[in-house]
Amino acid sequence: MEAIAGESVLEVGVGTGLSLPHWDRECKITGIDLSPEMLDRADQLCRRHGLRNVELHAMDAQNMDFPDNQFDKIAAMYVVSVVDDPGSLLREIHRVAKPGARVVIINHFEHRHPWVRKVERTIAGVTGLIGFNAALPVDPVIETEGFRVKEVLPANLLGYWTMIIAEVEK
Ligand SMILES: C[S@@+](CC[C@H](N)C(=O)[O-])C[C@H]1O[C@@H](n2cnc3c(N)ncnc32)[C@H](O)[C@@H]1O
Repeated sequence: MEAIAGESVLEVGVGTGLSLPHWDRECKITGIDLSPEMLDRADQLCRRHGLRNVELHAMDAQNMDFPDNQFDKIAAMYVVSVVDDPGSLLREIHRVAKPGARVVIINHFEHRHPWVRKVERTIAGVTGLIGFNAALPVDPVIETEGFRVKEVLPANLLGYWTMIIAEVEK
């Protein structure tokens, strides 16, 4: 993320806050999540680590309460395929990002191998049961208007996940 002292960072779908202790403590970190239970756990983690630079809010990332052009850096980790409408999520990320902001998305996208993709499309039919869409295609995400994609990298075990690093254009 290359977040430096004084910058404001948004973590969308912060969950239990696993990443929060890893940010520079001189950055102002805002974490949002739809789930109050997740935020409770993130809050406990902040207390345990003495993180005074973190604010947590219950909020739908597809319809955020923040004004336009607020954040220098935005991270969305394992959240694009769990929201109802990834397009709204990306539009909101773009809206609240400052011009030139760095956005990092980590997510599982539909696999390029046709056999694996077939399995993913089959289980996508039970998305409601497994909690995420295993067959979300990457192209609409990296082609979203207003994001200049700088890198698309395989991430995590066997590269099954993808990291997208982009810069916001306004
Ligand atoms: C798979 S978890 C990832 C959590 C965290 N980013 C991590 O890497 O540990 C996805 C998170 O997104 C949250 N979430 C789902 N839909 C959301 C929405 N519309 N707005 C905000 N958060 C949402 C869930 O409550 C959950 O905490």
